[in-house]
Amino acid sequence: MDSPGPQVPPLTEPMMSVAEAERSGFTLRPWLTEDAPALVAAWHDPDVARFTAVPDDPSPAVAQRWIAGWERRRDQRLALDLVIGRPGADGPDSVLGEVGLGPFSKRLATAHVGYWVRSDARGCGIATAALGRLLEHAVDQLRIPGFIARVEPGNPASEVVLDRNGFRETTPGVWARGAGLR
Ligand SMILES: CC(C)(COP(=O)(O)OP(=O)(O)OC[C@H]1O[C@@H](n2cnc3c(N)ncnc32)[C@H](O)[C@@H]1OP(=O)(O)O)[C@@H](O)C(=O)NCCC(=O)NCCS
Repeated sequence: MDSPGPQVPPLTEPMMSVAEAERSGFTLRPWLTEDAPALVAAWHDPDVARFTAVPDDPSPAVAQRWIAGWERRRDQRLALDLVIGRPGADGPDSVLGEVGLGPFSKRLATAHVGYWVRSDARGCGIATAALGRLLEHAVDQLRIPGFIARVEPGNPASEVVLDRNGFRETTPGVWARGAGLR
């Protein structure tokens, strides 16, 4: 993908107040060093491993490096990877999942989206709501008009999440939302 020009705004995280997080049942926040065990556990989840890009070596050391790189990926406009966190909690148990934007097309015209939710938190609407909140931030604050998701065959839960956020399947396995994406 082409790198964005200098006028493109920096990637910023959604600011969720305590009240909004408590109302929503989740918050969106940066990754922290202490989240590494939760990330390793997610990488070992069979559905996360099957349907998302997991490192070949899903070890604590790789998780620490990935987390250490999140700010650089944001600052270089490569990705905005956020924890879906339990409001008011910290430690590994506070990580309910992940939702992220990236890679981006030239000048942030489109962003790919990705997400996972840990197995014991699924089926409660968390992915749908967290993706919805991130998309709202991406449209309103980052001025990104279009979004793309790739869904492997056999992942109906992810299709529901996308459908409920206004995405439509444009070609098999490719879902899009936004101006000019059909
Ligand atoms: C996909 C995933 C993120 C969904 O997370 P979630 O928090 O459970 O999602 P939500 O609860 O917001 O919505 C999922 C919906 O799909 C439905 N669903 C789940 N399995 C389904 C199935 N086999 N067939 C049809 N619908 C299904 C759920 O019932 C729910 O709908 P409901 O609210 O009417 O009950 C989660 O399953 C996951 O982490 N999977 C592994 C990683 C992954 O696939 N990431 C996406 C890559 S494209």
